[in-house]
Amino acid sequence: MDTNDISILAIESSCDETSASIIINGKVLNNIVATQSVHEKYGGVVPELASRAHQENIIPVVEQALRTSGIRKDQLSAVAFTRGPGLMGALLVGVSFAKAFAYARKIPLIEVNHMQAHVLAHFIEDPKPNFPFICLTVSGGHTQLVLVKSPLQMEVIGQTRDDAVGEAFDKTAKLLGLPYPGGPLIDRYAKAGNPKAFDFPITRMPDLDYSFSGIKTAVLYFLRDQLKENPNFISENSADLCASIQYSLIEMLLIKLKAALKHYRIKEVAIAGGVSANSGLRKTLTELAEQNGWNLYIPKFEYCTDNAAMIAMAAHFKYLQSDFTSLEVTPLAKMKL
Ligand code: KG4
Ligand code: ZN
Repeated sequence: MDTNDISILAIESSCDETSASIIINGKVLNNIVATQSVHEKYGGVVPELASRAHQENIIPVVEQALRTSGIRKDQLSAVAFTRGPGLMGALLVGVSFAKAFAYARKIPLIEVNHMQAHVLAHFIEDPKPNFPFICLTVSGGHTQLVLVKSPLQMEVIGQTRDDAVGEAFDKTAKLLGLPYPGGPLIDRYAKAGNPKAFDFPITRMPDLDYSFSGIKTAVLYFLRDQLKENPNFISENSADLCASIQYSLIEMLLIKLKAALKHYRIKEVAIAGGVSANSGLRKTLTELAEQNGWNLYIPKFEYCTDNAAMIAMAAHFKYLQSDFTSLEVTPLAKMKL
């Protein structure tokens, strides 16, 4: 370590992963994530339990990040944290920790917008997208089309007006009797099914916006009617049901993505967030990229789901601009890009 080296400890605690990462001169050294399994039996994230689990996990996660990086606390140039958007109680744990750490060590504090960090996850490893590019951020909490002009200049050009697409995956999965989070299970069963077996709605919103609440209701009524005729309808048709639901969700995502790329005349395409793990989405996007000459960027799964490495990457860019935060900062459950 040189005195000119920029070394940052970054913390993520916006939802149900407690994570810490160390970045030196823009290179991520590690990404320690403690996943909270306590939520599984409740069928979704319970905010109060998430806050408590963050409290338990934060110090061990930070200690592991420091230990495995070989960096000492006194060598850090700054500490970064997720300010929002996210669950208030969950954010408070990371914000309070980072503030206390910065105060004790007398080093700068850097706030990071979680959604900006999802996009900047593309800069952790090669190949990196060229500016300007369009990023489709798809997770359990968000669905956004982002026009990225430079590392810290981003504009939301489309977003969901109700549920996030990950939420639509998880809620329809729940209707099929699948445990939380149901997205990966829909993906798995869909592989053996016919995506055209059942006709679920493809909602078209104005401009580049999305709506995913309609499909949940459509699936609910469809299943209610079918189960009256045949109580085994779900188990007899699970693969076709999953494939058809997934088909509608992917179609909705891609219709707007295609429209955005056309409108802005851009061929650099990135996807981020937990739903970008979906194999149907990856396959269809890869085919579209080949047909249309797009350059497609999909980060490693570890950097798609919530993680502190992406917070560290965003913090590095902010450090270069001396974009620091006051010790009076508070979290923002809703935070605009
Ligand atoms: O980004 P993420 O880990 O957490 C946030 O919501 O911020 O995303 C989690 C979401 C969940 O809704 C989960 O069901 C969905 O990503 N997901 C998937 C797949 N893997 C994760 N959805 C569909 N197919 C998958 N393979
Ligand atoms: Zn996220």
